[in-house]
Amino acid sequence: MTPSLEVKNLTKCFGCFMAVNNISFSAHTGEIIALLGPNGAGKSTLMNMITGYLAPTCGEIYVLGQNIKTNPLASKQKIGFLSEGAPLYPDMSVRAFLSYMAELRGFAGHQKQERLKEVYQAAKIESIINQKIETLSKGYQRRVGFAQSILNDPPILLLDEPTDGLDPNQKTHICDLIHRMGKHKTILISTHLLEEAETIASRIILINRGEIMADGTLSDILKQTRSRSLENAFKKLTTQSEEA
Ligand SMILES: Nc1ncnc2c1ncn2[C@@H]1O[C@H](COP(=O)(O)OP(=O)(O)O)[C@@H](O)[C@H]1O
Ligand SMILES: [Mg+2]
Repeated sequence: MTPSLEVKNLTKCFGCFMAVNNISFSAHTGEIIALLGPNGAGKSTLMNMITGYLAPTCGEIYVLGQNIKTNPLASKQKIGFLSEGAPLYPDMSVRAFLSYMAELRGFAGHQKQERLKEVYQAAKIESIINQKIETLSKGYQRRVGFAQSILNDPPILLLDEPTDGLDPNQKTHICDLIHRMGKHKTILISTHLLEEAETIASRIILINRGEIMADGTLSDILKQTRSRSLENAFKKLTTQSEEA
């Protein structure tokens, strides 16, 4: 089966600093993968390259078997992205913003209205659609960003720190939603939270200093590192690379 996403020897240098160092992995439909790593590990840089927002220094990215360099627009149509901090237009109302984004994604007329209703419901933002984005709490802004990322029901969804800024109830809601959508999509979430990786993901890719330190299910990683908990494995793998 062709992987929905394949990353081969991906590297990103900022000047002489290597933020992502020779990363390779592939992902299939039905997988929810957590890119887990401490702050500065290279998670956002990796996601920004997969979405075509940042050009890699070297390496290749394939979306549904197609190289994103040869077919950038088609690849972007297959990917939904919630970027870190969810840059939104602060002076627009939620309704106007999502309507604009839906038009950019090719929706119009009745079909657009129907799709908007569905994402309002999915992200539980029906009560704030007439509010200006700048007046919303961080949690609601995050949910608007989330609604934007699923507008065109993309087969691949990249969520950069999706629960950042949410209260525990909102976190549970977003985690449930990710779980439900994960059956039919390939979902990559980045997180520095061990608990989140454990509860949401079917597979964990542990990243530190731009490199993959471990890749597998939670039990694979515990076995590989002879650890009793993910916290223990995380500490072993992140200190190993600091000592190297
Ligand atoms: N545009 C940039 N210019 C220079 N350094 C950058 C830039 N973007 C990210 N970095 C550096 O790359 C490293 C990885 O950053 P990032 O991908 O944001 O990590 P994470 O998302 O895992 O916290 C960090 O050390 C960060 O300071
Ligand atoms: Mg980040």
